[in-house]
Amino acid sequence: MISIKNVNKSFGDHHVLTDISLEVPKSNVVALIGPSGAGKSTLIRTINALETIDTGSITVNDIAIHDKKTNINKARTNIGFVFQNFNLYPFLSVLDNVTIAPIKIKGQSKAEAEKRAKELLTSLGLGEKFDAFPNRLSGGQQQRVAIARALAMDPEVMLFDEPTSALDPEMVKEVLDAIRALAKQGMTMVVVTHEMGFAKEICDDIVFMADGKIVEVAPPDVFFTNPTTDRAKDFLAAVLNH
Ligand SMILES: Nc1ncnc2c1ncn2[C@@H]1O[C@H](COP(=O)(O)OP(=O)(O)OP(=O)(O)O)[C@@H](O)[C@H]1O
Ligand SMILES: [Mg+2]
Repeated sequence: MISIKNVNKSFGDHHVLTDISLEVPKSNVVALIGPSGAGKSTLIRTINALETIDTGSITVNDIAIHDKKTNINKARTNIGFVFQNFNLYPFLSVLDNVTIAPIKIKGQSKAEAEKRAKELLTSLGLGEKFDAFPNRLSGGQQQRVAIARALAMDPEVMLFDEPTSALDPEMVKEVLDAIRALAKQGMTMVVVTHEMGFAKEICDDIVFMADGKIVEVAPPDVFFTNPTTDRAKDFLAAVLNH
């Protein structure tokens, strides 16, 4: 579903992604983990072209994301992205946050978009919040609205960049539960996360990055018990200590 081949990227003379290749089959869930500055956000953002790449190629369901001939706005409708800081539209109600893209980009009728949005919001425990504005919601609620907003486009791929890092601890579970439910439904996902227990539980593969490179790719039971590189061993020791 996602195919990343030999991707390189620099910011000025700072090489932040070095020869990255990664395949994510349909319905697989991959966790991107690694130290701060490893290039995790940069990499996940290249998958829907929020960042450009210098060389290499990325396809999502066979659409070449960085090909100039690709209609990137159309391609992005198939790729949901959930940010650390929610990024909801502050002046729109919860319902309007979720329906705006299906109406404006997919051409759905208001009634059709609202029906689907209400189903999604209700399934995410937000059935009472259709008319609320984002600033009246908790972080966990805002993040679940952001997930509903992404799902309203019926994407085949969901990308999450540290979806729980900005949340108070008691709200982490409700957001992880929502992502867990998507994994069960067979959604193809890439999740940048520091939640090691969660990564271990829902992921098919752990992708460990450091210094702009993929250092190890392994299923969680292998990665967490038998990391092969010193970089991964040191990282896990530090994380587990913490
Ligand atoms: N827009 C930018 N301009 C210049 N340098 C950037 C830009 N975005 C990221 N970088 C640099 O690229 C490197 C990788 O950053 P990135 O945000 O991808 O790391 P990360 O693994 O997501 O880290 P964290 O865990 O702290 O979120 C860092 O050295 C960062 O300073
Ligand atoms: Mg990051």
